Amino acid sequence: MSYQHKTLGEFINENQHAFKYSTGELSSLINSIRLAAKVVNHEVNKAGLVDITGAAGDVNVQGESQQKLDVYANDKFIQAMINRNIVCGITSEEEDDFIIVNSKDKNHQNKYVVLIDPLDGSSNIDVNVSVGTIFSVYRRITPIGTPVTKEDFLQAGKHQVAAGYIIYGTSTMLVYTTGHGVNGFTLNPAIGTFYLSHPDMEFPKDGNIYSVNEGNYLEFPEGIKKYIKYCQQIEEDRPYTSRYIGSLASDFHRNMIKGGIYMYPKSTKNPNGKLRLLYECNPMAFIAEQAKGKASDGYTRILDINPTELHQRVPFICGSINMVEKAEAFMKEF
Ligand code: AHG
Ligand code: MN
Ligand code: MN
Ligand code: MN
Repeated sequence: MSYQHKTLGEFINENQHAFKYSTGELSSLINSIRLAAKVVNHEVNKAGLVDITGAAGDVNVQGESQQKLDVYANDKFIQAMINRNIVCGITSEEEDDFIIVNSKDKNHQNKYVVLIDPLDGSSNIDVNVSVGTIFSVYRRITPIGTPVTKEDFLQAGKHQVAAGYIIYGTSTMLVYTTGHGVNGFTLNPAIGTFYLSHPDMEFPKDGNIYSVNEGNYLEFPEGIKKYIKYCQQIEEDRPYTSRYIGSLASDFHRNMIKGGIYMYPKSTKNPNGKLRLLYECNPMAFIAEQAKGKASDGYTRILDINPTELHQRVPFICGSINMVEKAEAFMKEF
C-alpha cells in the first residue's frame, strides 16, 4: 500500500511493534490525542460563527489572559486522556499545577505522563491565522502503583518517549515522533481521518528563512542582534526571508519543510525568553533533532537542560542545523 492511503490509526498499529516490551499504552495515548485533535479542530473551524473567540476572563499561571479556545482545548485534551485512563499524570500551560490521573481499577498502574500546550498561538485565534497544539510524553520515574509527583514531569527533554504538534491551518495536520523519525498526517475533514501525507520529515541542512519577533530587537542580546544583521546582509544567498506567524508550531512546521531558523531569545523584558521549556521547547527540540535539525538556548542543547519548575521559560533557537550553529557562533562571539 502506498503511504498516501495509510491512516494515522493504521500507522500507529503498525509501529507499535517497533517498541520492545510494548503494551500498547503509548499507542492508546497517541490515539486519544488524535481524537481530541479532531474535536478541537472542529471547534477552531467554527471560530467566528460560534461564541468561541475572545478572552475567557481569567489569567493563567503564565500571567497571560486566557482565551476561550485556550480553555476549551485544555479541557478537551485533558478529558480525552482522563476518560481513557491511559496516563498517570498531566501538566498543561493552562493549569497551575500537575494533575494526578487515576481510577480505582488502575491503582496508579499507568506509566506515561503528558505535558501539553493545548492551544499554541493564542493571539492568532481571533484573526483566522493558524493555531496549534504541542504535546510531550515521558515515562514516569517514580514507582508504578504510587501517585505521580512533580519529579515525573521535571525530566530533561532527552528522556521524552514521544512528542508532537497539531496545526489547525489551511489544512489540519498532526506531526509526531516516538524517537524513530518524524511523520506528518493530514486530516481529510470530509471523513474525519488523518492520512500519512509527510513521511520521514527532515529539516534541510540550510535554509533562507528566519523567524523572530523583531519588535523586540533593541532588547535582544548582542549575538542575536548581530545574527539578525547577518541574515539581512546582501550576499550571494542573502538577505534571508523574514517570516513570523507568532504560532511556534506553525513557524516551526514551515521552517522544517522549507529550511529556516526560529528564535525566541531572552530580552530585557523576558530575561529567560518567553517560551515554556516543558510544553513548547522540549517537544519541538525532540522533533527537530529527530528531523535532523537542532535546538538550543544559544549555548546549551535544549534536551540536556534539567528543568526545575513546571512553567520554566527558556531562550529558544531551533531549525536547520547549519543556521542554528551559525546563530550559536554569533552568541559565543558577542
Ligand atoms: P501560547 O499561545 O501557547 O501562549 O504561545 C505563544 C508563543 C508561541 O506560539 C509564539 O511563537 C510566541 O509565543 C509569540 O510570542 P510574541 O507574540 O511575543 O512574538
Ligand atoms: Mn498562552
Ligand atoms: Mn504556545
Ligand atoms: Mn498555549
